[in-house]
Amino acid sequence: MGPLTEEAQIARLKSELNRLKNENADLNKELEKHKIIFNQALDAIIIFDQEMNFIDANEAACLLFAEEREVLLQHSLYDYLALFPHEEMVRQRGILTEKGVLSEEIVIKLKNGQLKFIEFSAKRKAFGDYDLSIMRDVSSKKLLERERSINEKMFQDLFHRAPDGIVIYDAHGRLVDANTSFCQSFELQKNQLSSYRLKDFIDKDNSFKIENSWSLLAKSEKAKGDLPVRLKSGTRKIFEFTTTANVMNGYFMAIMRDITDKRTMESKLNKSEARFREVFENAMDAIVIWDHSGKIIKANEWAAKIFEMPMEGLLKSTITDFLDPEDPRYLSAFKHYVKTGSIRRELRFHMPNGQCKELEFTSKANVFGGQHLTILRNVSDRIRMEKELRQSEEKFREIFNGAMEGIVLFDSEYNILAANPVSAKIFDMTHEQMKECNLHSLLFRDENELPFDFLLDYQEEAERKEEITFLSRHGHKRVLDFSIKLNLNENMHLAIFRDVTERKELEDRLRKSDTLNVVGELAAGIAHEIRNPMTALKGFIQLLEGSVKDDFSMYFNVIKSELTRIESIITEFLVLAKPQAVHFEQNSIVKIMKETMELLNAQAIFSNVQLELRESGEIPSIYCEPNQMKQVFINILKNAIEVMPNGGMVKTILKMKDSQNLCIQISDEGNGIPEDKLKRLGEPFYTTKDRGTGLGLMVSYKIIEEHCGQVTVESEVGKGTTFYITLPAGSGGTDT
Ligand SMILES: Nc1ncnc2c1ncn2[C@@H]1O[C@H](COP(=O)(O)OP(=O)(O)O)[C@@H](O)[C@H]1O
Ligand SMILES: [Mg+2]
Repeated sequence: MGPLTEEAQIARLKSELNRLKNENADLNKELEKHKIIFNQALDAIIIFDQEMNFIDANEAACLLFAEEREVLLQHSLYDYLALFPHEEMVRQRGILTEKGVLSEEIVIKLKNGQLKFIEFSAKRKAFGDYDLSIMRDVSSKKLLERERSINEKMFQDLFHRAPDGIVIYDAHGRLVDANTSFCQSFELQKNQLSSYRLKDFIDKDNSFKIENSWSLLAKSEKAKGDLPVRLKSGTRKIFEFTTTANVMNGYFMAIMRDITDKRTMESKLNKSEARFREVFENAMDAIVIWDHSGKIIKANEWAAKIFEMPMEGLLKSTITDFLDPEDPRYLSAFKHYVKTGSIRRELRFHMPNGQCKELEFTSKANVFGGQHLTILRNVSDRIRMEKELRQSEEKFREIFNGAMEGIVLFDSEYNILAANPVSAKIFDMTHEQMKECNLHSLLFRDENELPFDFLLDYQEEAERKEEITFLSRHGHKRVLDFSIKLNLNENMHLAIFRDVTERKELEDRLRKSDTLNVVGELAAGIAHEIRNPMTALKGFIQLLEGSVKDDFSMYFNVIKSELTRIESIITEFLVLAKPQAVHFEQNSIVKIMKETMELLNAQAIFSNVQLELRESGEIPSIYCEPNQMKQVFINILKNAIEVMPNGGMVKTILKMKDSQNLCIQISDEGNGIPEDKLKRLGEPFYTTKDRGTGLGLMVSYKIIEEHCGQVTVESEVGKGTTFYITLPAGSGGTDT
């Protein structure tokens, strides 16, 4: 090729220039692109010199370090590494120098104090002597990571330590994992979990609950409810159940809290609340609840009734409106309440209508969250009644203790509940002994006596009078006028009785002496009338005696003996007729008795009867009419001989009964006298003998009576009879 023409040269240069221009434009474009990338890049791009001074930095870098670019370029990275460990820095530099590249993390502290985690990569001497570094703020990622790791740890902690049971199960309800608490409350081992499904613990009736929770989960990710569970051991429990769907790849998590106790408590609480309401509304006592200022918050119907005001009024009142500070008991009650927070007292309250009432109340502070509960009851009536009762009881006591009759209260088993002093005296016991006794066994001590049961026998008639004979503790027979009132009270009966033994005896004696007086008057009238003709008859009979022929001697004897008999009757009659020839004087009863026995000796021997006399101790003389005494002894000893036709022994004992009285005791061994006949002894003309007069005992009784003495008889059928004659020793006797 030849030398280029100038033109050709110019053209070549031009085209060269164009090419360069284009190239330059391209390069500029490229540069522009890089600049844009440099500045727009999200990561910070920084060029450092070997002293780590900022040589260039893009916008992201400015943002990262929160500095204007000009400011930043005057700094070194070291200015921001105050908190970064120096050794670490040295280590990283070492690696960069050695390997030429480095990817690491640092922590920078900005001027405003903020800390940033930076992830960076660096290239040593990327531009001449300059290093290139690309940095990214990973603070938030770091934070997240840290949070995540904390969360994870926390979850693990929670999962295992949670007091609630936590269970993880799959979409089929199969158990996957569970914490200790769950295993414990479901009585499971951790390694058994996978062989169970949630359903296995739930009764068919309740399985809908699980199904409900599925459908709820489908809608809202969360389901909650009570789950009644039956464990393998059969124990039933209630769990509060919260389940969350999809916690981890399609698994479900449920938190189960054992609320069995809570539920039972709740139901108990409900019950007791209902009970309280019941009590509150239906109580027969007034119930008032008031707050700390005394304002009445709640009151029942009875409260309105007791305070005599409508409910609305009551609920506007304060408790102090009703209290009466004038009541002397008020202050002490108030102090007591403030001090102890509870009280039971009686106080006077006044009602809005002016009325005063004595109310018994109990009050308690701090119930129902700081409120006061007061229950009141009207005791005005009770106090009045008590007073009346006390009065009537006092009256009763007075009657009971002062009565002349024995009064006994007894129950249906005849146990004595109360006995008055007179009753104790009748039964010859102390008041205390009485109360330990049984009335029935007291009355029917005598086994021969047929006991009868008032409670049974009197069932129809509630009241009845009866004469009861009972044997006293000392074996004496006593007669009681007994009146009974059944069912005075429930299981309480009343017996009123009077000892009429003495009165009975007196009546008996009175009756006898009545007849005696009549007979006596009669006797006085006729005795003399008969005696005189008798004397004549006897005289003539004696005259006739010699001239009576043998044929008639039998008749004559009959006449004679009958005359003697008439005479004896007359003689006995005359005693009754108070013959004139009586003079009382001191006489030895021993002497009289001896003389009498001598008189009767012949008859006794004839009947093979032995008469025995014993004196016990010193026997004083007594004031008496000796012939009459002799008559008495004859009558009684004769009777005794007569009841022993085949012989026997008549014992007579003379002794002092006590310091005042002499006792003559005459016992035979005859057939005795039956009980019913015993009473008749001494009645005029009562005799059981063919030829008896029935006057002997009557006369004897009369005589003893006139001597202020007494005759009693004891007899046992088949064994014998004893007559006791008691006479006052020393003085006595009636004047005639
Ligand atoms: N020791 C006695 N033992 C049994 N019976 C007696 C005894 N003493 C009296 N009697 C009864 O009392 C009755 C009345 O006695 P009494 O007045 O002496 O009349 P009399 O001897 O004439 O019958 C007697 O008939 C007898 O039945
Ligand atoms: Mg007789």
